Amino acid sequence: MTDSDVTISMFERIGGSATIDRLVDRFYDRMDTLPEAKMIRAMHADDLGLIRDVLKRYLTEWTGGPRLYTPEKGHPRLRQRHFGFAIGDAERDAWLLCMRGAMEETVTDGAARQDLNKAISGLADWMRNRT
Ligand code: HEM
Repeated sequence: MTDSDVTISMFERIGGSATIDRLVDRFYDRMDTLPEAKMIRAMHADDLGLIRDVLKRYLTEWTGGPRLYTPEKGHPRLRQRHFGFAIGDAERDAWLLCMRGAMEETVTDGAARQDLNKAISGLADWMRNRT
């Protein structure tokens, strides 16, 4: 095996935990303030402190970084965990508006941002549970 065979994870491509921390903080700041995100903000607890920490742990693991989510929370079963919230096209779009803005601000590598956007948009699509 040569060096070129080593796969670089998305976690490394975007700049590791420093970037994930900023990304998630900007994401919830946007959710907390954008008028377009009001309906998804209302689904969340008043205090966003806890969920900031959980999403940081989840995204760290999902992008190929350290396993900070599963050992504590068990298998993600993310779609099931969202069944309690009515998520249709409008909610997905609001979520992605916050996430894409946060990515623009925090993920400086354009190619990595494009790939991450593609993967996370697929995940947001899959999270819909209402037509
Ligand atoms: C598509 C629209 C989405 C909406 C409206 C939404 C909404 C929510 C809400 C209301 C919660 C509960 C928050 C709380 O406990 O206060 C939650 C939890 C969570 N969401 Fe989403 N979400 C969406 C998509 C996503 C996507 C795409 C991801 C992953 C990239 C994600 C990751 C998570 C995680 C990790 C949790 C915590 C689950 C746990 O308890 O372990 N969500 N979401």
